[in-house]
This record gives sequence, C-alpha cells and structure tokens, in this order.
Amino acid sequence: MERNIFQKVPLPCAFLDEEALERNIQSIVQLCRGKKVRIASKSLRSVPVMKRILASNSCFQGVMCFSPREVLFLIKQGFDDLLLGYPAYDEQALQEISLLTKQGLIITCMVDCIEHIAYLEKIAKETGGRFRICVDIDMSSRFFQFHFGVRRSPIRNASEVLKVVERAMQSPVLQIDGVMGYEAQIAGVGDDVPKQGFKNKVASYLKRKSAMEVMKRRRDIVKAIQGKGNTLRFVNGGGTGSIKTTMQDESVTEITIGSAFYSPKLFDYYKDIKFEPVVGFALPIVRQSNPHIYTCLGGGYIASGSVGKDKQPEIWEPSGAKLLALEGAGEVQTPVYYNGSEYLTVGDVMLFRHSKAGELCERFSLLHRIVGNTVIGEYSTYRGDGQCFL
Ligand SMILES: Cc1ncc(COP(=O)(O)O)c(C=O)c1O
Repeated sequence: MERNIFQKVPLPCAFLDEEALERNIQSIVQLCRGKKVRIASKSLRSVPVMKRILASNSCFQGVMCFSPREVLFLIKQGFDDLLLGYPAYDEQALQEISLLTKQGLIITCMVDCIEHIAYLEKIAKETGGRFRICVDIDMSSRFFQFHFGVRRSPIRNASEVLKVVERAMQSPVLQIDGVMGYEAQIAGVGDDVPKQGFKNKVASYLKRKSAMEVMKRRRDIVKAIQGKGNTLRFVNGGGTGSIKTTMQDESVTEITIGSAFYSPKLFDYYKDIKFEPVVGFALPIVRQSNPHIYTCLGGGYIASGSVGKDKQPEIWEPSGAKLLALEGAGEVQTPVYYNGSEYLTVGDVMLFRHSKAGELCERFSLLHRIVGNTVIGEYSTYRGDGQCFL
C-alpha cells in the first residue's frame, strides 16, 4: 500500500484493506470447518463490516455484543441472533430486550450467578416479557497457587453451574439457551512475543496444559446441564488466539472470533495463528524537529488492558520508524524517529497499527476502504453512527 494514497483524504484517518480482510475471512473459514463462528462486535465496531462478514459465508452466524444498548442498536440495523457476552445492569435496555425476546427476536443474556437470574426474572415479570439466557463458566486454570486466566465467572464445576441452572429452570420467564466457556488464557495470551524467548516457552507450556483441562471441564459441564433435560441451542468457546484448540472440543458448537478479522499488532505474537494486518491509521507529518525526528498530528490511541509498551500503536510504514521512549504516541503530537532510505518531509503520511482490534473505531467515524492503492469508499464505525456504548 502506497503511503501517499492517503494524501487525498482528510487526515488523520483510519483505513481497512479490503483484500487482506477477504484473505483473513477465508483463513477463518478454513480453520473453523464444522463449527459456526459468532463474530465479536467489540473487535469490529462497524455495522457495514459486520454485515459484510456475516454475508460472506454460512459459517458466520450471530454476533457477540458487549452492551445491552448495543444489542438494541444492532436489532434496529437488522441483526438477529445476538449474544450479550457479559452480564449487564441497565434496566431500561433490558426491559426492551425482554419484550423483543417475547416477540421472537433471538437475543441471549449472560448469567453466572443466582443474582443475575433473579434480576432478569424480575424485569421479565414486570414487562410481561422473557429472556433467553447463557451460562458463563469460568475457564481459568489454577496451577498450585498460580491463577492462569481472567477473573470473570465464579462458577467452574458442574455442581456450581447446576445451582444456577436449576434456579433458572424454575422460572417460567427464562429459557436456558446456551453455555459459554471462554478460555481467555489461551485465546488472549501471545506465545511468540519478540525478545521474550523464555516467557514464550512458559506461556506455550501453560497454554497446552490448560487447554486439556478446560476442554474436559467444559464438556463435563455441558453434559451435566443436558442431563437435567435442557436442550442447548449453542455451546460457545474461544476467541481468535484459541481457534486451533477450541476447534478440538466436540462439545463446542460455535467459536467467537473478532480480532482475527482486523488482526491488530498483538495478534502477530501467536505461534499457532497468522492473519494479515487489515486495519490501520494514517497520520500526517506536520513538523520535523531534527533530521531524523518527524512529528505527526494525533496518534495517542492506546489499547486497554494492563498498562505496558505493548499497548502503544506500532508504525507500519515506513518500516524501521520508531516511537520515542520518552514521549510515545501523544494526545495531539507523536514524534517518530526514522533514519531509513525513504525520503520524508512535512505533509507526508505515516501509517500505524493499533495494538487491539476494535478500539480504533472509537477514534474515527469511518474506515476508508482500500483496494490495492485506491480508496474505493468507506465503512462507518460505531462512532460514525453516533454510538458510544463502553
Ligand atoms: C467472551 C469472549 N469471547 C471471545 C472473545 C474473543 O474475541 P477476539 O477474537 O476479538 O479475541 C472475547 C474477547 O475478549 C471475549 O470476551
């Protein structure tokens, strides 16, 4: 991609490489043969991109959303089969969801404790609506004193899960629709990080050890829930970084995938999966304080999560350019060190990648669609649609 194609569009801007997206879609289709793929909206945050992916192959089915208001927004945009991936406390939005569910729209809310069940039941009884629910099970591993995984659901074995399930089964306004077990410590931990040979070995070992254990846990829990007479519409697992292991769990019917489509910087650091960078942003060079330091306008789009250098953007083009350790990517000014062979001057453009997938869409109202070296159109982002959920 030529950097100068962006000189004709208002800068800074974000962009999406259409051909690379198509290749990532095809790779996902190949990797997920036999299982459905639910797309993770948090990692896409663009209605037209999500519609494009869902229309591209029948393996793509349904969306995992991150907020009840987002669910309502997506229903208005014509989406169905929405799994709200995280518990929510937003009474007004949930009231609407309970009524839409009664009307026949497929929306599933996440629960992991009796309090969640009681809350949804109360709302459904008040509105005369109902809810489909999905039970989120803890998929973290514990090796002696060491917790390997995220801190989310409190229920991790069949008896703990059945207490929640049995409570839900007593309710005439709730229907157990699915089970989710997201193995974050496998899907979200890189094991091919540059200059971290030893840490990579440890991460790989722990991931292998954890994968075996958590797959058995998910299978046993699914059996226990079915053993109580429940028919599950879906069993959801995984994420981009665990596609290969989650695929091996026969109890899983669908894998949630989001980041693989845009393939941001952090997903370069996985041994088992390789996708192409699709989304980036272009900043204009607006000043040059010395022969090798070029300062761009904008750029401080830092990713969420534990704070570290890995959450900074990376310079995509020109290759070899680096952020300055003392300044990083700034709120309005990002100085970049470059001592390579390309001639650069004020008014030129530098290309960057975000560290994570969807968050960049909160900074830009559209993604310019690129084919080869041509801008062929644009996709609106959630922000461009005037939406802001989390
Ligand atoms: C519940 C859940 N499932 C799946 C994923 C995977 O998303 P991605 O493919 O973007 O890594 C996530 C990401 O955080 C998640 O929270």
